[in-house]
Amino acid sequence: MDEFAYRDGALHCEGVPLTSVAEQFGTPTYVYSASTLIDHYRRFAKAFDAINPLVCFSAKALSNVHLLRLLGREGAGVDAVSGGELHRAMLAGIDPERTVLAGVGKSETELREAVRRDIRCINVESEAEVELLSRIARQEGRRPRLAIRVNPDVAPDERTPARTTTGTRGGKFGVDIDRAATLFNRAAADDALRVEGFHVHLGSPIFDPQVYATAIDRLLALVAMLEQAGHRITTLNLGGGFPAEYLDHTAPSWDDFAEVIIARMADFTARGGQVIFEPGRTIAANAGVLISTVRYLKQAGERQLVVLDAGMTHLARAALYDSYHFIWPLQPPAEATPGSRDVSGLAGLTEYDVVGPICESSDYLARARSLPELKAGAHLAIFTAGAYGMTMTSNYNSQQRPAEVLVHGDQVRLIRRRETYDDLVALELLDEVDGQ
Ligand code: LLP
Repeated sequence: MDEFAYRDGALHCEGVPLTSVAEQFGTPTYVYSASTLIDHYRRFAKAFDAINPLVCFSAKALSNVHLLRLLGREGAGVDAVSGGELHRAMLAGIDPERTVLAGVGKSETELREAVRRDIRCINVESEAEVELLSRIARQEGRRPRLAIRVNPDVAPDERTPARTTTGTRGGKFGVDIDRAATLFNRAAADDALRVEGFHVHLGSPIFDPQVYATAIDRLLALVAMLEQAGHRITTLNLGGGFPAEYLDHTAPSWDDFAEVIIARMADFTARGGQVIFEPGRTIAANAGVLISTVRYLKQAGERQLVVLDAGMTHLARAALYDSYHFIWPLQPPAEATPGSRDVSGLAGLTEYDVVGPICESSDYLARARSLPELKAGAHLAIFTAGAYGMTMTSNYNSQQRPAEVLVHGDQVRLIRRRETYDDLVALELLDEVDGQ
């Protein structure tokens, strides 16, 4: 369920027609629905109510400070993966008690910042990182809380792209599960550290709840072994990876995941253990669209091309992972108002390749896509762009990053302005730009 819907001939976000956003702010622009973001967060947390998890929204999916603040007011914490994301979380007023830091290559500075802020948990990913954290802890006179990120060697099914699979043997993330107990013992013996448990993240998105089940069973076996040896394990972070609906009815519900996870974790939480989740996509993806304008139509061989003002620098997912994003005009002809994302029943559609302005052959947003007939100047929405959209933009080709707009009811707020040409060179022409 989200708050993007066609009404009176135009796509609305909550109470606002997106054509008016395009007119006011230009394109390409990311538009987010505050109600959707809040609703998704609340319903995700409610599904897991029985084990009272700490839900740390994964800032890598969507990191605008205003949106982190919005989620923070709902009780969400933040899963940060860099000092930059930690900075965003703190600016958004997220309580360090609800903040976790992950990342396979954290710098000394990043670790030190996390130690000084005494965040809820640092997820360490290697033996060497434990050594460094221990040294920093002594220098700072603090006892950071940490979890060991384990690679449980669990493969998701083929719906998870290999490029976003993270929990299989030989991958760069975490510590092999057969070395995790040794590292836990090493950390537990260090009076500068408080090692509280384990962290897993299996990939993104994971469609099959059984993948979580398998990983949790491996984790719980590790926990049981350490508890028998007299350790107390108080934190299990199960990461993110819950899917979002890019089409219709392809993703299981949060309840489907909750059923499998709660059944396994209830015992742990009943003993006082804390479960942490790090959802990103499942909360944010359908809370945002990217709106764009058709610049040109052209023919290439047998193919009809539509050239947009948005490309891989504004939304990288299609070029990087061949990801599917539903695309549709903001003002379609009446007979082409989509009731769902399955538009195969609609008449009068034309097949287009949807491309961006970037000088790369991979700069496609969609191939062979059936759309109503398009004209230059028409506005389009690229759906399910709220997660890994804006956060993965770049300035390649000296493209300006898009603006970001937040809609709540009939209120429209610019929450990040479009970059300017001066922004593009501000860090280069230091004297000319900053010094005058
Ligand atoms: N926790 C950890 C440790 C992660 O590495 C990730 C995502 C998450 C949580 C959040 O996962 P989510 O709930 O959003 O699935 N750029 C790719 C996705 C990369 C995900 C990286 N890690 C994409 O656009 O599909």
